[in-house]
Amino acid sequence: MSKAGNFFVTGTDTEVGKTLVSGALIMKLRDAGQNAVGFKPVAAGTYRDASGLKVNEDIETLRIASNLAPNKFSLCPYVLDEPAAPHLVAKNEGLHLDCRTILQSQAELQSQFHTMVVEGAGGFLVPLNETEDLGDLAQALDCPVIVVVGMRLGCINHALLTCEAIQSRQLSIAGWVANTCHERMPLFEENLQTLKERIFAPCLGVIPSLPQEFAKSQNSPYSLEALRFAAKHINLPE
Ligand SMILES: Nc1ncnc2c1ncn2[C@@H]1O[C@H](COP(=O)(O)OP(=O)(O)O)[C@@H](O)[C@H]1O
Ligand SMILES: [Mg+2]
Repeated sequence: MSKAGNFFVTGTDTEVGKTLVSGALIMKLRDAGQNAVGFKPVAAGTYRDASGLKVNEDIETLRIASNLAPNKFSLCPYVLDEPAAPHLVAKNEGLHLDCRTILQSQAELQSQFHTMVVEGAGGFLVPLNETEDLGDLAQALDCPVIVVVGMRLGCINHALLTCEAIQSRQLSIAGWVANTCHERMPLFEENLQTLKERIFAPCLGVIPSLPQEFAKSQNSPYSLEALRFAAKHINLPE
């Protein structure tokens, strides 16, 4: 099931900027005239919004970037309450996550949109159940992968491990993004240079730390301004 326009966004870890990059990519694709939408296979962690509705911040960000009204289209088949490893939370909630259900939901959304940006959960090999993980899902989706590298100590090793895992599943890496989550790490430029030398895929950009006025607060999605700021710092893959 190869979908030419789609991307799967993974990262070196959880909390590295996958949602920021996914939102920014959707906005860039839409600016380029594409009918693009975000999709999240599984989201863990909900809160009540101003109107009392249970929502998840990643899904809300993807919705904002996709310019969709609340409750217009389902962008995620599994919304779990607790912010923890999805397969464990699902077990506690009496749910069984599986690739088949995710792919059905993805196909339904795909029928309305040309291009999908699928934001993974956590890192590339996060389990869905006893036998399947997100890497299996990426393989089933069969689309190019974009790796978000959270620029912090340890990121070189995490980035290279992630790229190896992607390649070992015969998936192509469309590019990677260096994201300055929180503070700029020591030897930032040198780390960036090493990543450029060792990752055999194009660097799509370097996102600086968000200006204070766009910073995201907990339990809220990214603002359009924050997504625009990130979008200015990345290029769409060739
Ligand atoms: N460029 C950035 N500047 C400042 N803070 C950032 C940046 N990127 C990410 N963050 C912070 O890091 C947290 C995790 O980012 P997010 O995009 O949700 O990552 P992921 O989707 O990988 O979990 C967010 O709460 C956000 O405030
Ligand atoms: Mg996220």
